[in-house]
Amino acid sequence: MTATRTADAFRRLYGSAPEGVWAAPGRVNLIGEHTDYNDGFCLPFALPQRTQVAASRRTDGMLRLHSADVPSGVLTLRLAELDPARPPQGPDGWARYPAGVLWALLDAGLPVSPLGGADLHVSSDVPAGAGLSSSAALEVATALALTDLYGIPVTRTELAALARRAENAYVGVPCGVMDQTASACATAGHALHLDTRGLAQQHIPFDCAAAGLRLLVIDTRVKHDLADGAYAERRASCHEAAAALGLPALRDLPYADLDAALARLGDPVQRRRVRHVVTENERVVRVEELLRAGRLREAGPLLTEGHASLRDDYEVSCPELDLAVATAEAAGAYGARMTGGGFGGSALALIDADAEAAVSGAVTQAFARAGHRPPRITAAAPAAGAHRLE
Ligand code: GLA
Repeated sequence: MTATRTADAFRRLYGSAPEGVWAAPGRVNLIGEHTDYNDGFCLPFALPQRTQVAASRRTDGMLRLHSADVPSGVLTLRLAELDPARPPQGPDGWARYPAGVLWALLDAGLPVSPLGGADLHVSSDVPAGAGLSSSAALEVATALALTDLYGIPVTRTELAALARRAENAYVGVPCGVMDQTASACATAGHALHLDTRGLAQQHIPFDCAAAGLRLLVIDTRVKHDLADGAYAERRASCHEAAAALGLPALRDLPYADLDAALARLGDPVQRRRVRHVVTENERVVRVEELLRAGRLREAGPLLTEGHASLRDDYEVSCPELDLAVATAEAAGAYGARMTGGGFGGSALALIDADAEAAVSGAVTQAFARAGHRPPRITAAAPAAGAHRLE
C-alpha cells in the first residue's frame, strides 16, 4: 500500500488532495508481557505493517472519517459533541480510535483551534484482532497527522500518551502504554526497551537476519471473548497485590525478594500473578543483555520460559497459542511465546533462517489436525515507528 494510493483515495472521497499522509506501525512484543501496567519493562518492536492516515484540516469544527478497510461510508462527527460516554458504535466502531484522539487533544487543552476539525482517510495492512496493535497504529497515525497539521509541539512519548488516553478514556480499554509507545517511538532495526515507570527508552539493535535467524509471527486468528474482562481483572489483581505488599507497584519488588514476598501473600492466585510479573521483568533484563551482546539464540529459552509463565501463572494463554508454541519448539525453534494481551492473537518463534518452511509447515499441520483455522505465519523484522510519508 503506497502513500500515493492513500492520497488518491482521499482526493476521490473529499474532492481535494490531502495536506499530508502519515503512517504508524503495528507492533510485536519480544518479551515483557503484562508488565506495562505494573510500572515494569517491555521490549517491543515495530512491524513493517502499518496504518496510513491521509488528512487535511477543516475550519468548521467537523471531523469526517473514512476507512478503506470497513465497508461503511464517510462518518461525520461534530468536534464539540465528541463524548466518551457516546463513542461511535456498530459498523462505525473503528472510528472510536481516531475520534478518541481528537477528543484527547481537545481534552488536554492542546491548541487545536475550536474552529478546527479534519478530514481523514485511513487504510491499514496491520491485521485487526491479531494482537499486533492495529488500534494503537490507528491512534498514533491519527495523533501524528493532527499534531503535525496543527503545529502542536509534542514529543513522541507525549504522542504515545495522548493515543493511550484516547484508548483508555474514549474507547474504554484499560491498556498500558506499551503498544502506543512502540508504534510512536520504535526505530528500524531495533527493539525498544521501555521502562514504563519513567518512560525511559533505549533502542537495542535487533538484527535476526545478521545472526542467521528469523522471528516468525504466528497469527492464530482466534480471539477469545474472555480477553477484555480478564485483562481488567489481571490488572486489578496486580494492583491489589502491590498494595498488600506495601509497594507502589509490582515493579518495586526485586527478583531477589520474590520468594519472601510470595510467602506474605495468602491468595494462591495473587501469588501466581505476582510471580509472573516479577520473573517477566527479570526476563526482559536478561533478554536485553543478550541482545546487546549479540547472543540472540540464547534469548530463545527465556521466550519459552515467558510463555510458560503467561500460561501457568498469569493464565492468559489459550489452546491455539499453546499449540503454536509447542509445535514451533518441537520443530526446532530456539524459543517461542505468545505476544500481546493473550487469549488469542499471535505467538512468536525464534528460529534458524533456513528452518522457516519446516517450522511454518509443522505449525500449519498441527492446526489442521486440531481442527483450528489455518494460522497466518509471517517473518518479522523491526521496522520504523510512526512518520510522515508525504
Ligand atoms: C495489550 C495492552 C498492552 C499490554 C499487553 C500485555 O497489548 O494493550 O498495554 O498490557 O496487552 O503485555
